[in-house]
Amino acid sequence: MEIRVGVFVCDCGSNIAGVVDVASVVEYARTLDDVVFADEGKWICSVDYLSKIQEYIKEHDLNRVVVACCTPRTHEPTFKSTVKEGGLNPYLLEFVSIREQSSWVHKSDPVAATEKAKDLVRMGVAKARLLEPAEETRLSVGKDCLVVGGGISGMTSALALADSGFNVKLVERDKELGGLLNKADSIAPYDVKACEIVEDRMKKIEGNDNIEVLTETELEDVKGYVGNYKVELTKSGEKKECDISTIIVTTGMKEHVPKGEYSYGKSSKVITQLQLERLLKQKEVSDLKEVAIINCVNSRNEERGCCNVGCLISMKNAKAIKAANPSAKIFLLFKDLNLRGNEVNYQKDVLERFDIKLIRYNDLHNPEVNEEDGKLVLKVHDILLGKELRINPDLVVLTCAFQGDETVDKLKGLLKVSTNSNGFFQEAHIKLAPLDFATSGLHLGGCARSPKNVRESMEEAEGAAMRAAIPMNRGYVEAEGIVADIDYENCNECGLCAKNCAFGAIELDEKRPEVIKAICKGCGTCAAECSKDAIDIIHFTNEQILSQVEAALEEEPENKIVAFCCHWCAMGAVDMAGVGRSEYPTNIRIIRVMCAGRVDKTFVEKALELGAGGVLVAGCEFPTCHYITGNYKCKDRIEKLKKKLAKKGMDADKVWTVWLSAADGPKFTSCVKNMVSELNV
Ligand code: FES
Repeated sequence: MEIRVGVFVCDCGSNIAGVVDVASVVEYARTLDDVVFADEGKWICSVDYLSKIQEYIKEHDLNRVVVACCTPRTHEPTFKSTVKEGGLNPYLLEFVSIREQSSWVHKSDPVAATEKAKDLVRMGVAKARLLEPAEETRLSVGKDCLVVGGGISGMTSALALADSGFNVKLVERDKELGGLLNKADSIAPYDVKACEIVEDRMKKIEGNDNIEVLTETELEDVKGYVGNYKVELTKSGEKKECDISTIIVTTGMKEHVPKGEYSYGKSSKVITQLQLERLLKQKEVSDLKEVAIINCVNSRNEERGCCNVGCLISMKNAKAIKAANPSAKIFLLFKDLNLRGNEVNYQKDVLERFDIKLIRYNDLHNPEVNEEDGKLVLKVHDILLGKELRINPDLVVLTCAFQGDETVDKLKGLLKVSTNSNGFFQEAHIKLAPLDFATSGLHLGGCARSPKNVRESMEEAEGAAMRAAIPMNRGYVEAEGIVADIDYENCNECGLCAKNCAFGAIELDEKRPEVIKAICKGCGTCAAECSKDAIDIIHFTNEQILSQVEAALEEEPENKIVAFCCHWCAMGAVDMAGVGRSEYPTNIRIIRVMCAGRVDKTFVEKALELGAGGVLVAGCEFPTCHYITGNYKCKDRIEKLKKKLAKKGMDADKVWTVWLSAADGPKFTSCVKNMVSELNV
């Protein structure tokens, strides 16, 4: 089939045309292979011009479209739907950014800016000629959700989903629902009995036909993917298989108790807050005369941050002891007090009404607790008084840090998800997807993710339920056409691609890898990591990217830096430099990839072979890759490649990497300046 490329170059008012000679770029575009039509538009994203593009597609029988204008990060969807409505597959569009990458950042050198715009258009056309139609994939999703963990978060998620009409299996390994609340006496800052909250939720659950409660039950096996999970549950050795569409993990947390410090485990008079809760429940605190509460145990140190909930718990329990025995002396030792919102008023109220002595200590002088002649001796350096205090409490209560509960390791393996160093489950992205795991259809909430109070846990559990409800409500998940494609002739079934996929989108059928297209995100890490080059990424194929490298280096390669930039933070930083009108040398030619993980070593090698003055690989700063691990994989790969290049006697110093946030325009700008000056490009 004859390739017929149409190129549309935008003036963007004077944003582009004020610097770049757009007419000459259009003229130049007309000379490129397979370009049958090129036009200049004042605002090519205007409704008028978009319909003109559709007319030109028909009139000139265009089957590939290149737009040279602003940034794909904001305008690609608009042009994609335009070409789609014009009768073309939307993946036959290539986007060239000549505003953020040229006119805005090279305004004091219009000639070089124009030459660069021509290069960028040439690179765009080179890729466009090789574009192929792509399909968006749909996978149907039913209405059954499995909620693992029957604490307050699990109960809340289950109710939120059931009230929206979905079927929920609520699995709890203990005999009863309630989780940590079953161990707590009351809840601050509301002064509500924990059992009342549990009873209220249980009543609602019992009256809801959409929820099946499975207590003393554990998740034993999980297979499949969103919309198509087969899970195996066991209760007293009996197995039960269920078909599930989505899964929410709300397994909660447990105290991170000291190993011998503070005499914990040696003296029965040293207990944790949860153990104190039991005494409070059983009303066994009225005899206490002197109690020391030590906050920030195992937290606010080099390993762990604030435990988030300890201050409120300690304040509540100090109040409860005083309420039971007003003459009891309470010492509350803390590194810092972290209370938020109405918790601050609660603390104020407690401290005004009850005589509680606050003692501030720091990491340099952790309190010491020993038992001498059957009596506890607590030594603490009060940093506000600047002296050591010695107390003889009859009870020491440790407000410990928290960690993920004991089921985390097993679930992590079953669900193939990650955990952090504190044993909590790791969300896909702390800002973009805090209630999702990286794998579609798997969600998390409450204390399975990090320590939270009851209100925060319930809010998050509702959020996780809503995230799970999205595909169940829609009835399907849909993936973009940018997905991995396996060439089975070259594949040696090593299974590395499945291992490298952060989304569980490659399944091994025996040893044969299969891409589940609906959940593949198209990051390209599998393709770049495949030693047999047996995987390509539709719309970002090796051939297409190499054609851009060649087009970038067609003229004066020694003066060019080829940059592979991820679509998210790296391109965000490039755009930010543009928005800030930060000028930098004109030598850089950017090739967009979805993730730095896509940057195959052959791309870099090709650029060097063709004589590039430098190669830059730019991705998201750590750990914020939008595809979880792409930047880490890329970093390792490029480091290995540089060693290999150096061994071969090649100039490995020409290869640079930079890890950016989307706001890092200045960092990107100075990186380009440094490269140009150090490499003498
Ligand atoms: Fe930016 Fe992966 S998306 S490095």
